[in-house]
Amino acid sequence: MAKLRQLVAGNWKMNGTAASLAEIDALKAGIAGATADVAICPPATLIAQAAARAAGSALMIGGQDCHPKANGAHTGDIAAEMIADAGGKLVIVGHSERRADHKEPNELVRAKAEAGWRAGLLVVLCIGETEAERKAGETNAVLSKQLAGSVPEGATAANTVIAYEPVWAIGTGLTASNDDIAAAHAHIRARLAERFGDGAKAVRILYGGSVKPSNAGEILKLDDVDGALVGGASLKAADFLAIVAAAK
Ligand code: PGA
Repeated sequence: MAKLRQLVAGNWKMNGTAASLAEIDALKAGIAGATADVAICPPATLIAQAAARAAGSALMIGGQDCHPKANGAHTGDIAAEMIADAGGKLVIVGHSERRADHKEPNELVRAKAEAGWRAGLLVVLCIGETEAERKAGETNAVLSKQLAGSVPEGATAANTVIAYEPVWAIGTGLTASNDDIAAAHAHIRARLAERFGDGAKAVRILYGGSVKPSNAGEILKLDDVDGALVGGASLKAADFLAIVAAAK
């Protein structure tokens, strides 16, 4: 099967201070000639500085979350428009840590995705089952429900990327087996095709959950795996670049 151009996106989560901008410099230099799209989503405090440092390179900078509204009385929140204003090109929505820590339901994730589009950002929309759901044989049902509830009408390859991240594989060192990843991605592709028709073939589906240099190559080769969303291994440029090098 012909591969889509892959996207390797790093999610720094709540890690990073000004000193971490040296990693952006290293990535900027290291991705010259990369055959995949590459992005880093640092904490909000660093988006503007990271975007300024990445300017002139293909490295995209993004946010990890956004509020559905463009502005207003929402203490501590950040609008998608603010991410774009700071030089961001993408935003992650629906990460399982947001769904768990902040009890974000599918409808809110959907509104955040629409906010990202409104601001002209590429939306990386995360879904994934918990360990209990997988053990109960509910993986496909959970993924279908999350897709139906959190992907807005109007999703296209140009405005949306789906990230499949089994919750039990995030930050644990555990990765799903290649068969499980391939099965989940095929299921996601089929659900997208039902809703969005032929255009769904070009929507990139990333895998996330303990992706590292040692397993990136085999994961990124799988059918319907169009890139990776990387947490821990994105904090050091050397590790992240090794993952980028494994992508197409
Ligand atoms: P991890 O995180 O690579 O540290 O498992 C992935 C993610 O949460 O996006």
